[in-house]
Amino acid sequence: MSKIIEGKKLAEKIKENVREKVISLNNKGIDVGLALILAGENLSSKQYLSATLKACKKTGIKPYEFRFPENVTMNELLNSVRDINNDERIHGALIFFPLPKRIDSRKIVNSILPEKDVDGLGSIPIGKFAAEESTLQLYSKQYDPSITHHLGFLPCTPFGVIRLLEYYNVDIKGKHAVVIGKSLAVGKPLSLMLLTKEATVTICHRETRNLAEMTRQADILCVAAGKPNLINADMVKEGVVVVDIGINVLPNGCVVGDIDFESVSTKASLITPVPGGVGPVTIAMLLENTVKSAKARI
Ligand SMILES: NC(=O)c1ccc[n+]([C@@H]2O[C@H](COP(=O)([O-])OP(=O)(O)OC[C@H]3O[C@@H](n4cnc5c(N)ncnc54)[C@H](OP(=O)(O)O)[C@@H]3O)[C@@H](O)[C@H]2O)c1
Repeated sequence: MSKIIEGKKLAEKIKENVREKVISLNNKGIDVGLALILAGENLSSKQYLSATLKACKKTGIKPYEFRFPENVTMNELLNSVRDINNDERIHGALIFFPLPKRIDSRKIVNSILPEKDVDGLGSIPIGKFAAEESTLQLYSKQYDPSITHHLGFLPCTPFGVIRLLEYYNVDIKGKHAVVIGKSLAVGKPLSLMLLTKEATVTICHRETRNLAEMTRQADILCVAAGKPNLINADMVKEGVVVVDIGINVLPNGCVVGDIDFESVSTKASLITPVPGGVGPVTIAMLLENTVKSAKARI
Protein backbone atom coordinates (compact mmCIF):
# COMPACT_ATOMS: atom_id res chain seq x y z
CA MET A 1 0.00 0.00 0.00
CA SER A 2 1.36 3.40 -0.90
CA LYS A 3 1.98 6.44 1.22
CA ILE A 4 -0.35 9.36 0.55
CA ILE A 5 1.26 12.65 -0.47
CA GLU A 6 -0.58 15.16 1.70
CA GLY A 7 -0.70 18.33 -0.35
CA LYS A 8 -2.83 20.04 2.27
CA LYS A 9 -0.07 19.69 4.85
CA LEU A 10 2.56 21.31 2.61
CA ALA A 11 0.06 23.99 1.53
CA GLU A 12 -0.58 24.92 5.18
CA LYS A 13 3.17 25.22 5.77
CA ILE A 14 3.64 27.49 2.74
CA LYS A 15 0.64 29.61 3.77
CA GLU A 16 1.99 30.03 7.33
CA ASN A 17 5.21 31.33 5.82
CA VAL A 18 3.25 33.66 3.51
CA ARG A 19 1.22 34.90 6.50
CA GLU A 20 4.42 35.82 8.37
CA LYS A 21 5.72 37.75 5.36
CA VAL A 22 2.38 39.52 4.91
CA ILE A 23 2.43 40.61 8.58
CA SER A 24 5.97 41.90 8.20
CA LEU A 25 4.90 43.90 5.10
CA ASN A 26 1.79 45.17 6.94
CA ASN A 27 4.09 46.43 9.70
CA LYS A 28 5.88 48.49 7.05
CA GLY A 29 2.53 49.93 5.93
CA ILE A 30 2.15 47.69 2.87
CA ASP A 31 -0.99 45.64 2.19
CA VAL A 32 -0.50 42.75 -0.24
CA GLY A 33 -3.14 42.70 -3.00
CA LEU A 34 -4.15 40.00 -5.48
CA ALA A 35 -6.54 40.57 -8.41
CA LEU A 36 -8.83 37.65 -9.29
CA ILE A 37 -10.38 37.83 -12.75
CA LEU A 38 -13.31 35.53 -13.51
CA ALA A 39 -15.46 35.69 -16.64
CA GLY A 40 -18.53 33.49 -17.02
CA GLU A 41 -20.03 30.80 -14.84
CA ASN A 42 -17.59 27.86 -15.12
CA LEU A 43 -18.18 25.66 -12.08
CA SER A 44 -14.54 24.61 -11.56
CA SER A 45 -13.38 28.24 -11.88
CA LYS A 46 -15.92 29.29 -9.27
CA GLN A 47 -14.70 26.55 -6.91
CA TYR A 48 -11.09 27.61 -7.51
CA LEU A 49 -12.08 31.25 -6.84
CA SER A 50 -13.74 30.42 -3.55
CA ALA A 51 -10.76 28.30 -2.41
CA THR A 52 -8.40 31.17 -3.37
CA LEU A 53 -10.51 33.70 -1.44
CA LYS A 54 -10.38 31.44 1.62
CA ALA A 55 -6.59 31.15 1.34
CA CYS A 56 -6.27 34.94 0.91
CA LYS A 57 -8.25 35.45 4.12
CA LYS A 58 -6.02 32.98 5.98
CA THR A 59 -2.80 34.66 4.87
CA GLY A 60 -3.96 38.28 5.09
CA ILE A 61 -3.64 38.92 1.36
CA LYS A 62 -6.28 41.37 0.13
CA PRO A 63 -8.29 39.99 -2.81
CA TYR A 64 -9.67 42.31 -5.50
CA GLU A 65 -12.40 40.49 -7.44
CA PHE A 66 -13.10 41.33 -11.07
CA ARG A 67 -16.22 39.39 -12.15
CA PHE A 68 -17.58 39.52 -15.70
CA PRO A 69 -20.53 37.90 -17.48
CA GLU A 70 -20.06 35.21 -20.17
CA ASN A 71 -20.57 37.85 -22.90
CA VAL A 72 -17.65 40.04 -21.71
CA THR A 73 -15.69 41.66 -24.56
CA MET A 74 -11.93 41.61 -25.19
CA ASN A 75 -11.83 45.37 -24.58
CA GLU A 76 -13.53 45.09 -21.20
CA LEU A 77 -11.02 42.48 -20.08
CA LEU A 78 -8.03 44.35 -21.49
CA ASN A 79 -9.19 47.57 -19.79
CA SER A 80 -9.54 45.81 -16.50
CA VAL A 81 -6.04 44.30 -16.76
CA ARG A 82 -4.71 47.77 -17.61
CA ASP A 83 -6.34 49.12 -14.41
CA ILE A 84 -4.80 46.24 -12.42
CA ASN A 85 -1.37 46.93 -13.93
CA ASN A 86 -1.66 50.60 -12.88
CA ASP A 87 -3.02 49.90 -9.41
CA GLU A 88 -0.23 50.08 -6.83
CA ARG A 89 -2.32 48.23 -4.24
CA ILE A 90 -2.33 45.12 -6.45
CA HIS A 91 0.82 42.97 -6.58
CA GLY A 92 -0.43 40.02 -8.59
CA ALA A 93 -3.21 38.96 -10.96
CA LEU A 94 -4.80 35.58 -11.55
CA ILE A 95 -7.07 34.81 -14.49
CA PHE A 96 -9.42 31.86 -14.12
CA PHE A 97 -9.50 29.56 -17.14
CA PRO A 98 -11.25 28.77 -19.35
CA LEU A 99 -12.19 32.29 -20.44
CA PRO A 100 -15.29 32.50 -22.69
CA LYS A 101 -14.65 30.95 -26.13
CA ARG A 102 -14.56 34.22 -28.12
CA ILE A 103 -11.82 35.64 -25.91
CA ASP A 104 -8.19 35.42 -27.02
CA SER A 105 -6.83 34.06 -23.71
CA ARG A 106 -3.17 34.45 -24.66
CA LYS A 107 -3.70 38.14 -25.45
CA ILE A 108 -5.31 38.70 -22.04
CA VAL A 109 -2.60 36.77 -20.15
CA ASN A 110 0.14 38.63 -21.99
CA SER A 111 -1.42 41.99 -21.15
CA ILE A 112 -0.58 41.44 -17.45
CA LEU A 113 2.72 43.08 -16.53
CA PRO A 114 5.31 40.28 -16.06
CA GLU A 115 6.04 41.55 -12.53
CA LYS A 116 2.35 41.04 -11.64
CA ASP A 117 1.98 37.76 -13.54
CA VAL A 118 2.08 35.65 -10.37
CA ASP A 119 0.51 32.68 -12.18
CA GLY A 120 3.59 32.74 -14.45
CA LEU A 121 1.70 31.87 -17.63
CA GLY A 122 2.58 34.84 -19.83
CA SER A 123 4.99 34.38 -22.74
CA ILE A 124 7.73 36.30 -20.91
CA PRO A 125 7.91 34.14 -17.75
CA ILE A 126 7.42 30.92 -19.76
CA GLY A 127 10.08 32.00 -22.28
CA LYS A 128 12.52 33.02 -19.58
CA PHE A 129 12.09 29.70 -17.87
CA ALA A 130 12.58 27.79 -21.13
CA ALA A 131 15.74 29.85 -21.75
CA GLU A 132 16.98 28.87 -18.28
CA GLU A 133 16.96 32.48 -17.09
CA SER A 134 14.68 31.85 -14.11
CA THR A 135 15.45 28.26 -13.15
CA LEU A 136 17.21 29.40 -9.96
CA GLN A 137 13.78 29.74 -8.36
CA LEU A 138 13.47 25.95 -8.43
CA TYR A 139 16.39 25.80 -6.02
CA SER A 140 14.82 27.64 -3.10
CA LYS A 141 17.91 27.62 -0.87
CA GLN A 142 19.97 29.55 -3.40
CA TYR A 143 17.12 31.78 -4.42
CA ASP A 144 16.86 35.48 -3.54
CA PRO A 145 13.21 36.67 -3.77
CA SER A 146 14.24 40.21 -4.58
CA ILE A 147 15.34 39.09 -8.07
CA THR A 148 12.04 37.41 -9.07
CA HIS A 149 10.84 40.76 -10.32
CA HIS A 150 13.34 40.61 -13.18
CA LEU A 151 13.00 36.89 -13.86
CA GLY A 152 9.28 36.27 -14.04
CA PHE A 153 7.38 33.93 -11.75
CA LEU A 154 7.22 30.19 -12.21
CA PRO A 155 3.78 28.72 -13.07
CA CYS A 156 2.06 27.73 -9.83
CA THR A 157 0.79 24.21 -10.56
CA PRO A 158 4.02 22.67 -11.91
CA PHE A 159 6.08 24.61 -9.35
CA GLY A 160 3.80 23.16 -6.67
CA VAL A 161 4.36 19.62 -8.03
CA ILE A 162 8.15 20.08 -7.73
CA ARG A 163 7.72 21.41 -4.17
CA LEU A 164 5.55 18.40 -3.27
CA LEU A 165 8.12 15.94 -4.63
CA GLU A 166 10.87 17.70 -2.69
CA TYR A 167 8.77 17.82 0.49
CA TYR A 168 8.49 14.02 0.30
CA ASN A 169 12.23 13.68 -0.46
CA VAL A 170 11.66 12.23 -3.92
CA ASP A 171 14.97 12.27 -5.73
CA ILE A 172 14.25 13.57 -9.23
CA LYS A 173 17.78 13.53 -10.67
CA GLY A 174 18.36 10.65 -13.07
CA LYS A 175 14.81 9.31 -12.71
CA HIS A 176 12.50 8.60 -15.61
CA ALA A 177 9.62 11.07 -15.30
CA VAL A 178 6.61 10.54 -17.54
CA VAL A 179 4.27 13.52 -17.89
CA ILE A 180 0.83 13.09 -19.46
CA GLY A 181 -0.39 16.37 -20.93
CA LYS A 182 1.46 19.09 -22.80
CA SER A 183 -0.61 22.19 -21.98
CA LEU A 184 1.08 25.53 -21.44
CA ALA A 185 -0.38 25.75 -17.93
CA VAL A 186 0.72 22.35 -16.64
CA GLY A 187 2.29 19.60 -18.78
CA LYS A 188 4.82 21.64 -20.75
CA PRO A 189 6.27 23.73 -17.87
CA LEU A 190 6.22 20.69 -15.56
CA SER A 191 8.23 18.70 -18.11
CA LEU A 192 10.75 21.54 -18.32
CA MET A 193 10.99 21.75 -14.54
CA LEU A 194 11.59 18.00 -14.22
CA LEU A 195 14.21 18.28 -16.97
CA THR A 196 15.85 21.17 -15.10
CA LYS A 197 15.99 18.88 -12.07
CA GLU A 198 17.79 16.39 -14.34
CA ALA A 199 15.12 13.76 -14.78
CA THR A 200 14.85 11.95 -18.11
CA VAL A 201 11.47 13.18 -19.29
CA THR A 202 8.88 11.59 -21.59
CA ILE A 203 5.89 13.75 -22.52
CA CYS A 204 2.66 12.01 -23.58
CA HIS A 205 -0.49 13.42 -25.15
CA ARG A 206 -3.58 12.35 -27.10
CA GLU A 207 -1.54 11.17 -30.10
CA THR A 208 0.88 9.09 -28.01
CA ARG A 209 0.77 5.50 -29.21
CA ASN A 210 0.51 2.84 -26.54
CA LEU A 211 0.31 5.09 -23.50
CA ALA A 212 0.64 2.15 -21.10
CA GLU A 213 4.03 1.23 -22.59
CA MET A 214 5.25 4.73 -21.65
CA THR A 215 3.65 4.94 -18.22
CA ARG A 216 5.01 1.51 -17.17
CA GLN A 217 8.53 2.92 -17.56
CA ALA A 218 7.90 5.81 -15.17
CA ASP A 219 9.71 6.20 -11.87
CA ILE A 220 7.71 9.39 -11.43
CA LEU A 221 4.35 9.65 -13.22
CA CYS A 222 2.62 13.05 -13.43
CA VAL A 223 -0.82 13.09 -15.01
CA ALA A 224 -2.55 16.28 -16.19
CA ALA A 225 -5.03 15.19 -18.84
CA GLY A 226 -8.44 15.94 -17.34
CA LYS A 227 -9.66 12.36 -17.95
CA PRO A 228 -10.99 10.33 -15.00
CA ASN A 229 -9.53 6.80 -14.72
CA LEU A 230 -7.01 7.37 -17.50
CA ILE A 231 -4.40 5.43 -15.50
CA ASN A 232 -5.02 2.10 -13.79
CA ALA A 233 -2.77 -0.34 -11.92
CA ASP A 234 -1.83 -2.29 -15.09
CA MET A 235 -0.27 0.87 -16.50
CA VAL A 236 2.28 1.49 -13.72
CA LYS A 237 5.24 -0.33 -12.25
CA GLU A 238 5.70 -1.30 -8.61
CA GLY A 239 7.08 1.55 -6.48
CA VAL A 240 6.23 4.40 -8.86
CA VAL A 241 5.65 7.91 -7.45
CA VAL A 242 2.32 9.17 -8.81
CA VAL A 243 1.24 12.81 -9.00
CA ASP A 244 -2.36 13.24 -10.09
CA ILE A 245 -2.93 16.80 -11.25
CA GLY A 246 -6.30 16.20 -12.92
CA ILE A 247 -9.44 17.75 -11.47
CA ASN A 248 -12.66 16.31 -12.88
CA VAL A 249 -16.11 17.15 -11.58
CA LEU A 250 -18.34 14.09 -12.14
CA PRO A 251 -22.07 14.43 -12.95
CA ASN A 252 -22.83 13.45 -9.32
CA GLY A 253 -20.74 16.41 -8.12
CA CYS A 254 -17.78 14.30 -6.89
CA VAL A 255 -14.30 15.60 -7.68
CA VAL A 256 -11.79 13.00 -8.93
CA GLY A 257 -8.39 13.04 -10.58
CA ASP A 258 -7.10 11.23 -13.67
CA ILE A 259 -5.85 8.15 -11.79
CA ASP A 260 -7.85 5.16 -10.63
CA PHE A 261 -6.65 5.86 -7.10
CA GLU A 262 -7.81 2.62 -5.52
CA SER A 263 -5.99 0.29 -7.92
CA VAL A 264 -2.88 2.44 -8.54
CA SER A 265 -2.29 2.97 -4.81
CA THR A 266 -1.72 -0.80 -4.45
CA LYS A 267 1.47 -0.42 -6.52
CA ALA A 268 2.69 3.15 -6.01
CA SER A 269 5.19 4.02 -3.28
CA LEU A 270 3.78 7.56 -3.05
CA ILE A 271 0.57 8.95 -4.51
CA THR A 272 -1.38 12.23 -4.41
CA PRO A 273 -5.10 12.12 -3.63
CA VAL A 274 -7.69 14.25 -5.42
CA PRO A 275 -8.90 16.41 -3.76
CA GLY A 276 -6.24 17.35 -1.21
CA GLY A 277 -3.12 16.70 -3.32
CA VAL A 278 -1.78 19.17 -5.88
CA GLY A 279 -4.75 21.60 -5.75
CA PRO A 280 -4.09 23.22 -2.34
CA VAL A 281 -0.36 23.53 -3.14
CA THR A 282 -1.15 25.39 -6.39
CA ILE A 283 -3.05 28.03 -4.41
CA ALA A 284 -0.31 28.26 -1.79
CA MET A 285 2.30 28.80 -4.54
CA LEU A 286 0.15 31.55 -6.05
CA LEU A 287 0.08 33.36 -2.71
CA GLU A 288 3.81 32.81 -2.24
CA ASN A 289 4.46 34.39 -5.65
CA THR A 290 2.14 37.29 -4.74
CA VAL A 291 3.99 38.07 -1.54
CA LYS A 292 7.33 37.81 -3.43
CA SER A 293 5.97 40.35 -5.91
CA ALA A 294 5.05 42.72 -3.06
CA LYS A 295 8.49 42.27 -1.42
CA ALA A 296 10.28 42.87 -4.72
CA ARG A 297 8.64 46.27 -4.96
CA ILE A 298 9.81 47.64 -1.60
N1 LIG B 1 -4.45 20.64 -9.39
C1 LIG B 1 -4.35 21.86 -9.91
O1 LIG B 1 -4.01 22.79 -9.24
C2 LIG B 1 -4.65 22.04 -11.36
C3 LIG B 1 -4.23 23.18 -12.04
C4 LIG B 1 -4.47 23.26 -13.42
C5 LIG B 1 -5.14 22.24 -14.06
N2 LIG B 1 -5.58 21.18 -13.33
C6 LIG B 1 -6.29 20.06 -13.97
O2 LIG B 1 -5.35 19.32 -14.72
C7 LIG B 1 -5.97 18.76 -15.87
C8 LIG B 1 -5.24 19.24 -17.10
O3 LIG B 1 -5.32 20.65 -17.17
P1 LIG B 1 -4.76 21.44 -18.45
O4 LIG B 1 -5.10 22.87 -18.26
O5 LIG B 1 -3.37 21.02 -18.71
O6 LIG B 1 -5.76 20.80 -19.56
P2 LIG B 1 -5.68 20.85 -21.15
O7 LIG B 1 -5.20 22.16 -21.61
O8 LIG B 1 -7.01 20.35 -21.61
O9 LIG B 1 -4.57 19.76 -21.52
C9 LIG B 1 -4.80 18.40 -21.35
C10 LIG B 1 -3.61 17.65 -21.89
O10 LIG B 1 -3.84 16.26 -21.69
C11 LIG B 1 -3.67 15.54 -22.92
N3 LIG B 1 -4.66 14.46 -22.95
C12 LIG B 1 -6.01 14.54 -22.90
N4 LIG B 1 -6.56 13.32 -22.99
C13 LIG B 1 -5.54 12.45 -23.11
C14 LIG B 1 -5.47 11.04 -23.26
N5 LIG B 1 -6.58 10.28 -23.31
N6 LIG B 1 -4.25 10.48 -23.36
C15 LIG B 1 -3.12 11.21 -23.32
N7 LIG B 1 -3.13 12.56 -23.19
C16 LIG B 1 -4.32 13.16 -23.09
C17 LIG B 1 -3.97 16.56 -24.01
O11 LIG B 1 -3.29 16.13 -25.19
P3 LIG B 1 -3.30 16.97 -26.56
O12 LIG B 1 -2.37 18.13 -26.30
O13 LIG B 1 -2.76 16.02 -27.55
O14 LIG B 1 -4.71 17.40 -26.75
C18 LIG B 1 -3.39 17.83 -23.41
O15 LIG B 1 -2.03 17.98 -23.67
C19 LIG B 1 -7.44 19.21 -15.79
O16 LIG B 1 -8.19 18.20 -15.16
C20 LIG B 1 -7.37 20.44 -14.92
O17 LIG B 1 -8.59 20.68 -14.25
C21 LIG B 1 -5.33 21.05 -12.02
